[in-house]
Amino acid sequence: QPIRLSDYRPPAFLIDEVALAFDLAPNTTRVKARLSVRRNGAHADPLKLNGERLKLISVAVDGRALAEAEREVDAEFLTVPGVPDAFVLETEVEIDPENNKALEGLYMSGGRFCTQCEAEGFRKITYWPDRPDVLSRFTVRIEADKAFPHLLSNGNLIEKGELSGGRHYAVWNDPFPKPCYLFALVAGALDVLEDKLVTMSGRTVDLRIYVDPGMAPRAAYAMDALKRSMKWDEEAFGREYDLDLFMIVAVRDFNFGAMENKGLNIFNSSLLLADPATATDMDYERIESVVAHEYFHNWTGDRITCRDWFQLCLKEGLTVFRDQSFSADMRGHAVQRIKDVKALRARQFAEDQGPLAHPVRPSSYLKIDNFYTATIYEKGSEVIRMLKTLIGPEAFRAGMDLYFERWDGHATTVEEFIKCFAEASGRDLSDFFGWYEQAGTPRLSLSSAYDVARRTLEVEIAQETPPTPGQPTKTALPIPVRLGLLDQDGRTQAFLRDGEALDETVVVLSEAKTTVRLEGVDRPPVVSALRGFSAPVVMTTDAQPKDRYVLLAGDPDLFNRWEAGQELARELILARAAGQPDEVGEERFAEAMGRALSDQAADPAFKALLLAMPSEPDLALARQPADPAALHEAREALRLRLAVHLAEDLKRLHSGLQESGEFSPDAASAGRRALRNAALELLAANPKAETAELALGHYRAAGNMTDAMGGLAALMLIGGPEYEAALEDFYAKWKAEPLVVDKWFAVQARDPDETALGRVMGLTAHPAFDPKNPNRLRALVSTFANFNPVRFHDPSGAGYRFLADQILAVDRYNPMTAARLVDPLGGWRRYAPALGQLMKAELERILASEGLSKNVFELVTRALGRD
Ligand code: ARG
Ligand code: ZN
Repeated sequence: QPIRLSDYRPPAFLIDEVALAFDLAPNTTRVKARLSVRRNGAHADPLKLNGERLKLISVAVDGRALAEAEREVDAEFLTVPGVPDAFVLETEVEIDPENNKALEGLYMSGGRFCTQCEAEGFRKITYWPDRPDVLSRFTVRIEADKAFPHLLSNGNLIEKGELSGGRHYAVWNDPFPKPCYLFALVAGALDVLEDKLVTMSGRTVDLRIYVDPGMAPRAAYAMDALKRSMKWDEEAFGREYDLDLFMIVAVRDFNFGAMENKGLNIFNSSLLLADPATATDMDYERIESVVAHEYFHNWTGDRITCRDWFQLCLKEGLTVFRDQSFSADMRGHAVQRIKDVKALRARQFAEDQGPLAHPVRPSSYLKIDNFYTATIYEKGSEVIRMLKTLIGPEAFRAGMDLYFERWDGHATTVEEFIKCFAEASGRDLSDFFGWYEQAGTPRLSLSSAYDVARRTLEVEIAQETPPTPGQPTKTALPIPVRLGLLDQDGRTQAFLRDGEALDETVVVLSEAKTTVRLEGVDRPPVVSALRGFSAPVVMTTDAQPKDRYVLLAGDPDLFNRWEAGQELARELILARAAGQPDEVGEERFAEAMGRALSDQAADPAFKALLLAMPSEPDLALARQPADPAALHEAREALRLRLAVHLAEDLKRLHSGLQESGEFSPDAASAGRRALRNAALELLAANPKAETAELALGHYRAAGNMTDAMGGLAALMLIGGPEYEAALEDFYAKWKAEPLVVDKWFAVQARDPDETALGRVMGLTAHPAFDPKNPNRLRALVSTFANFNPVRFHDPSGAGYRFLADQILAVDRYNPMTAARLVDPLGGWRRYAPALGQLMKAELERILASEGLSKNVFELVTRALGRD
């Protein structure tokens, strides 16, 4: 019985104020709730509150306890038929946080109490209309044994004190009305890192990051990122923080990345804790971006929230756009853009081409948890980026200002959001709304004709979006295509468009086919189109390899320079995988890469991205049906050619970039490390004794986790006794550090060697493997299924069987995390039939199992196309 957007009705009752009182105990926590309820509109509906896994102790209306006959309770609801128009409802329930392994609602992690309520976890804490359009002011009293020294909730601490029997309490008040999904509570022994920030209006905000005892120094980078985020939001969007206190808590058992609870963000510790010895540059980068993301939600999510869960992209796509813009300002626009697009293609494009494709704003669901997807988040961000491109930065900012002004303190919709931009820009954006409602990745094909005599270039761009489940026919969308021209020597050529002299222009497609004529094109042009990846589409062009070499050598748009290299590599790998290797082309490519590497002006971080060949999942999307084994082999062959051809350059890079002195996580230093590790990774394609020695030396000499992992990953690719020795050494050294042990599991899961599946299965019996901890589970199981295509797609089907077994086992206690493992099987139609049928068979086996959660049931049915 799916939930549909078209069925939306405003809430029957509103709750202006709530007082919650928690009496915490691991197995028997008591929750008393006192709700000021009023009827919303004229109707005689009964009061119906969500509540799951709650032991009801008592219910009272206006101080009078209800008899059993005066209320109904089932597994999902508490219903009170006869209630007045305004009343006080009091309930008391008992819950068992310690045995809550779904990690939703109130649960325990590492001996501490914590919560996760988004999307529908609050109903596991108390009876409540669990929907985002009921906004209430919360006062929360927490009482516990003093063995739980810190008692935290949203807002401001208004009272605390001692109680008899070794107990104490604290009372918190959040002055901002909020939906229940933003409620949070934390209690336990924690260390705290404190700081302060003066906001733009001169208010001082206390900043506190709470972590496991002994870990406070590892929160320093997150604190620094938080302060930079707060300043950036003031400067870029005029948004100031609104409470006197901002807290973040890190927990080890968490179903996803982090959560923006008002004034009390809760983070997966993997996205918060970092020091040079235990965290890689990539960890630092992700911490910076997630700290920013959750902080930015304070305005786009908390102050303005979603009317219903179909509007999820309203806060998520927008907030991803904001965090990507922040990261670009912190770390460089081109490099950040390339990384964001790589992630978009790897996750969202794959989703959009499979049975789980859905619009940025879906219209029905079974479990909303299944819609925290790359489409909602990453494509949701791309849509905002296009909006900004289409109306220009000033109108975009004006639209955001209007949105904040008009909707502050409310729960709203994507339509209302877009309306703000239509008003601010004076443009009709009704066609643009198609980006929210239509699933699928548009395909563009670009062709151009140059007329030497007239010095004109005609560019024709056609668009087409392939059908997706439930949407057989598609309409044309407004698509901004940023383009510029080079000449055959790689110099920028100016041109005239409608009489205006330009270096670059944005062509907005609105029909199935759009033609533009550029004049004053003096020399034969090379077209650089879709610069900066101006729209989330797949584009093919009539460009020849020689044109791509021109772009690779000198496109001033660094995204397209990188893209040209990827395109060339992709074609060479696909040709090889199809049994038609282009040896001459490969040599030419290796030479061009050599020139790009020696470009002194280029940023090392950019060169590192250039050196990385398209990933195997990326290649699998490019040609279907995909043969993962052939793609793996062909990709390695190209890497080997580069490793041989560029051996001297790569070794020189590797030794030249060696750093001495203190570690700094800044972008420039990280870029140099990235390039050095990328050089090593490429050299590792040539598994000679000499390479193994180099990698082992790299691993041993590493003074930080980035280099240690770089060395270990290279040794993994080479294999042999050096690898085994390093693995052993690594574990012995880091076994007390959970986040590092996760890396140890993950590197083994990525191993393309034939023995890897056996090793991975063996690791599930390792004493450190704990499937109840989502980080550990994902390090082994998701890494294997998502990043080791050649072994996951073993022709025997053993890789699929392994994943299905894990899904079934985890689903028994943690449906949300189990459901996230289904995705790799979902692409079964894109693979060679022999593999696809085996994948499908595992999906059928899952579906036939008893006691499946709604979460897994929904994804598996959709994956099989049976929805
Ligand atoms: N709102 C959180 C964030 O993006 C993620 C919450 C995920 N919840 C879920 N049920 N999957 O920052
Ligand atoms: Zn978010």
